[in-house]
Amino acid sequence: MLKFSKTTLFALTIAACASFSAHAADAAAGKAKAEQACAACHAKEGNWSAPIDPSYPKLAGQHKDYIVQALVQYKDGRRKNGIMAAQAANLSNDDMSNLAAFLASQPTELSTKK
Ligand code: HEC
Repeated sequence: MLKFSKTTLFALTIAACASFSAHAADAAAGKAKAEQACAACHAKEGNWSAPIDPSYPKLAGQHKDYIVQALVQYKDGRRKNGIMAAQAANLSNDDMSNLAAFLASQPTELSTKK
């Protein structure tokens, strides 16, 4: 029978947690990326709810899945917009889920949270 010491089990548990968190969306990384790549248009100053032009969407509080879907579709061309295609072209899948986790967590005027 396999026998593990307590130390080995502890190490395995830590390793399992670490590998899980590597795949979980990272809102802090999303915040950094958004401030660097998205703020010029979607306006960090307005807490992501006051874009520089009324035709530019508010992102604060938008659903996570919706944001990821929009970015994926700008990147692969199913959703057509010259400006956002150029933005999404440089984003990895991890970038997209991190950005979405951050933006979705921001206070919003788009809906009332229950
Ligand atoms: C140069 C200006 C500009 C930059 C920079 C920019 N965006 Fe956009 N974004 C737009 C415009 C314009 C639209 C509306 C496009 C359309 O009509 O589909 C848009 C749309 C979106 C949408 C769709 C929202 C909706 O309600 O359907 C998402 C999500 C989005 N942007 C995320 C981002 C993220 C994340 C970044 C940073 C990586 C970013 N954008 C950078 C201008 C910009």
